[in-house]
Amino acid sequence: MLVNKKNKLPENYVPKDLVYTSIPFTFKEKTEKRKMRSEASAAISKLFAGSKKQGVSLLGVSAYRSHATQAALFDYYVKRDGYEKAITYSALPGTSEHETGLAIDVTGGNGKCAAQDCFGGTKEAKWLQAHADDYGFIIRYPKGKESVTGYKYEPWHLRYVGKSIAQTIMSRGITLEEYYSTKAVQN
Ligand code: DAL
Ligand code: ZN
Repeated sequence: MLVNKKNKLPENYVPKDLVYTSIPFTFKEKTEKRKMRSEASAAISKLFAGSKKQGVSLLGVSAYRSHATQAALFDYYVKRDGYEKAITYSALPGTSEHETGLAIDVTGGNGKCAAQDCFGGTKEAKWLQAHADDYGFIIRYPKGKESVTGYKYEPWHLRYVGKSIAQTIMSRGITLEEYYSTKAVQN
């Protein structure tokens, strides 16, 4: 599924198989933000277990967001920073991967720098850059690809695409957009 500024989700889209993930988050409440689609949920559990084994502790920040939640969040950012700025880091409702149940924002075990630029360059961010693909996730908004993705670098935003596609994307240093256009040319 390709969701971006040009590819909107269908009206009223709600993923069918959302489940509560079993990973720890930066908050205690049992809210929709803990949910992912079932395959992605199983994969993020494995990623968290794998990172822990290597001494890297992670916390979830925000996974699934309903259309209404994304709308409220985008509105909040527009009021805070203005539309032109907000659109560089927050998705218009209907265009956020968080609405697919396949994306999750994560941060380090101390909970600091959650969805903030200071997460970049941390031990946890480096581990994700090197290993997320082994669990089927990509760093969806890489550094230097702003003109392709339409968003600022987000070292914390993981998107589940499955292991094989994730390894292709991460080893080539490309984006999901580039992956799909290469594929279109090859086929
Ligand atoms: N921060 C990403 C782009 C989102 O709002 O989905
Ligand atoms: Zn995100």
